[in-house]
Amino acid sequence: MAGELGLVARNGAHGPSGEESPYYAPVGNEEAVFTAAYRQGLSVVLKGPTGCGKTRFVEAMAHRLGRPLITVACHDDLTTADLVGRYLLQGDETVWVDGPLTRAVREGAICYLDEVVEARQDTTVVLHPLADHRRQLPIERLGVTLDAAPGFGLVVSYNPGYQSVLKDLKDSTRQRMVAIEFGFPAPELEEQIVAHEAGVDADTAAELVRFGQAIRRLETGGLREVASTRVLVAAGRLTVEGLTMREAATAAIAGPLTDDAVVSRGLAEMIDVYLAAPAG
Ligand SMILES: Nc1ncnc2c1ncn2[C@@H]1O[C@H](COP(=O)(O)OP(=O)(O)OP(=O)(O)O)[C@@H](O)[C@H]1O
Ligand SMILES: [Mg+2]
Repeated sequence: MAGELGLVARNGAHGPSGEESPYYAPVGNEEAVFTAAYRQGLSVVLKGPTGCGKTRFVEAMAHRLGRPLITVACHDDLTTADLVGRYLLQGDETVWVDGPLTRAVREGAICYLDEVVEARQDTTVVLHPLADHRRQLPIERLGVTLDAAPGFGLVVSYNPGYQSVLKDLKDSTRQRMVAIEFGFPAPELEEQIVAHEAGVDADTAAELVRFGQAIRRLETGGLREVASTRVLVAAGRLTVEGLTMREAATAAIAGPLTDDAVVSRGLAEMIDVYLAAPAG
């Protein structure tokens, strides 16, 4: 559901409402670290490659902690006003409209800034007093400083693989946060995740994971990113619709990974080796 600024995804109230918890399979001690940081009012940065479960993790943790989750997808045009709020014309009046960060601060929600390094540093500087012990949000336009409501939590994520030095997070921002590193799950666990998320049987999941592992062993020869859990799930879902493994892997795994003809041929050969037999 798009928010008023077109960049906010919002999950309603979580927890006691009885909503089902988002499925998240823990890979290490990330749940314990997140819970400890949240309880201590510390901000969290999630680092890891695309499609490894960062967003799903935050959704699951917000649910478990019983807090609403407000997500902002960051991009390089994001302004402080997009986060904090602005005056908007309504009829012949101007009214102040809180941005997602301000709403999270007022409501005691968990605010998740996805791909935070995409935002310019002059935008993210507003996070500093929120991310440290002050837990305050200054709103210059209103001339007020809000104390974060109990329950407020700040979580940011980024993919270290993409970052140019220029776009790297400011040290002063980083050092205000507890870091949790995400990688891809071990094969047995990834098989469970793929089976659950795609609704495929254990054998199909195992085959897809074996193929994914093989791609990851390539040491990214010509690939910017390796096959994520997400693309393995997508391939599984295509097989549920009746595509063969080869068709599914070509469309959902090889295609998204590269546009390079030579690399594509290499992946096609790997598909022949690993997934030649039709599904089922
Ligand atoms: N540990 C996990 N438990 C459950 N599902 C997972 C897990 N890891 C990955 N997935 C599956 O992979 C998909 C992609 O994960 P998610 O969207 O959380 O990735 P992400 O790390 O946020 O990626 P991006 O950096 O591109 O936003 C999820 O929708 C889910 O199906
Ligand atoms: Mg994500």
